[in-house]
Amino acid sequence: MCGVKCITFALWINILSVLTGENKFRLELTPVNPVIHVGTDLELTCQMNDCPDNVTFIWKSALDEFLGGEAKDEQTVSRLLIKNISVKHSDRVLCKAICQQSPKDIMTKIHMFYGPGTIKVSSNNTSVKLGERLEITCHADGNPEPTIVWWKQGETELQSQNHKLIINNASWSQAGWYWCNVSNHVGSQQLRVQVTVVGPPNIPKIQLSHREEPKEGESISIFCSLDGGPAELKLYKQSQSIATGDPNEPTVLLNISSIQITDAGVYTCEAKNDFGIERSTINITVQAAQHDIWRKPDLPMAILPAAGSVSLLTAAVLLIRHFRKKSVSSDITLD
Ligand SMILES: *[C@@H]1O[C@H](CO)[C@@H](O)[C@H](O)[C@H]1NC(C)=O
Ligand SMILES: *[C@@H]1O[C@H](CO)[C@@H](O)[C@H](O)[C@H]1NC(C)=O
Ligand SMILES: *[C@@H]1O[C@H](CO)[C@@H](O)[C@H](O)[C@H]1NC(C)=O
Ligand SMILES: *[C@@H]1O[C@H](CO)[C@@H](O)[C@H](O)[C@H]1NC(C)=O
Ligand SMILES: *[C@@H]1O[C@H](CO)[C@@H](O)[C@H](O)[C@H]1NC(C)=O
Ligand SMILES: *[C@@H]1O[C@H](CO)[C@@H](O)[C@H](O)[C@H]1NC(C)=O
Ligand SMILES: *[C@@H]1O[C@H](CO)[C@@H](O)[C@H](O)[C@H]1NC(C)=O
Ligand SMILES: *[C@@H]1O[C@H](CO)[C@@H](O)[C@H](O)[C@H]1NC(C)=O
Repeated sequence: MCGVKCITFALWINILSVLTGENKFRLELTPVNPVIHVGTDLELTCQMNDCPDNVTFIWKSALDEFLGGEAKDEQTVSRLLIKNISVKHSDRVLCKAICQQSPKDIMTKIHMFYGPGTIKVSSNNTSVKLGERLEITCHADGNPEPTIVWWKQGETELQSQNHKLIINNASWSQAGWYWCNVSNHVGSQQLRVQVTVVGPPNIPKIQLSHREEPKEGESISIFCSLDGGPAELKLYKQSQSIATGDPNEPTVLLNISSIQITDAGVYTCEAKNDFGIERSTINITVQAAQHDIWRKPDLPMAILPAAGSVSLLTAAVLLIRHFRKKSVSSDITLD
């Protein structure tokens, strides 16, 4: 049945148990698998059973990390109290007990729940060129592993449901503040990152407040506007700059309370930034206020002779009537 090998094995086990006190004493560490929230207190109990003498206890962290806590020993029991536990407290704890020169140890792992720590972002001020790609990663430790979402300030829809915020083919509207939210059931953290989109400006728009050909003396406004990226707007007449926009305002407005003939001409709206320049123009012609009277000289040429003929005709009619009346009356006298 059990040969020489078997006997040797049994003997070896016996020697081993004498050396380690395997069968003599039992060491227990409770709670067996501690699960705890950071910030709370944890008490670990290490008990040596069946030791007739006082036991010497030594608490250690498995990897010589900071263990913290305060131990209270009795004959065969030691209690380690760790107050306000934090991630700096080692999560592997070893209890070493010595009874009658015979050492024995037992280890446990503390499972700590903690909210996300400091958020790390690959970059917190990022600029991307129009049409190009931008990737920002966000990370924070936590237990359980936190969930990470990206959202854009002013928008309700999430931008990303993981640690990566990816902008492909950047457009002007994608500029703004993006928040990285990191959370688990213990807590949450968030950090915002500004994304700027850079590139040449779009073509600006130039418009006249009401009509293309204002009349002299009318009040008009020339409106220059830009949608899209940041650029400085300027309004020019010929090559003279006449109005400059606020760099943060995508519009320039020029009011002319009483437009003059000399105000006529080509107006240019220019949008300029570090990446380029774009322009739009408008040709404003001003109608003279006397415009209707001015054209009157043409009128008499056509109308006066006609008026003349009318009056002549009237005179002729009156004359005919007069003579008719006369002849009628003479007829009467004749009859
Ligand atoms: C064990 O320690 C206690 C004090 O903690 C002491 O009173 C007692 O005499 C000790 N017993 C032995 C067997 O050394
Ligand atoms: C617990 O520890 C944290 C740091 O780990 C500290 O900020 C906090 O004030 C402590 N709380 C108490 C009640 O001591
Ligand atoms: C992000 O901004 C903070 C200040 O708000 C600064 O301390 C930190 O160094 C910045 N990090 C990066 C990656 O630019
Ligand atoms: C971001 O960095 C750019 C230059 O790289 C700088 O011009 C801009 O002011 C910075 N923005 C913020 C909010 O720090
Ligand atoms: C990038 O976006 C622009 C404007 O939204 C679009 O016209 C262009 O086709 C896009 N390019 C790619 C490669 O998706
Ligand atoms: C981000 O976190 C803040 C507070 O931590 C919360 O109010 C907000 O609703 C979170 N947003 C998203 C999209 O999870
Ligand atoms: C121009 O006129 C408009 C209304 O007609 C007014 O709202 C605006 O403030 C004026 N702008 C300037 C620069 O005078
Ligand atoms: C602007 O319009 C006027 C009148 O229609 C015209 O005579 C002039 O040539 C135009 N100027 C330009 C630069 O097109």
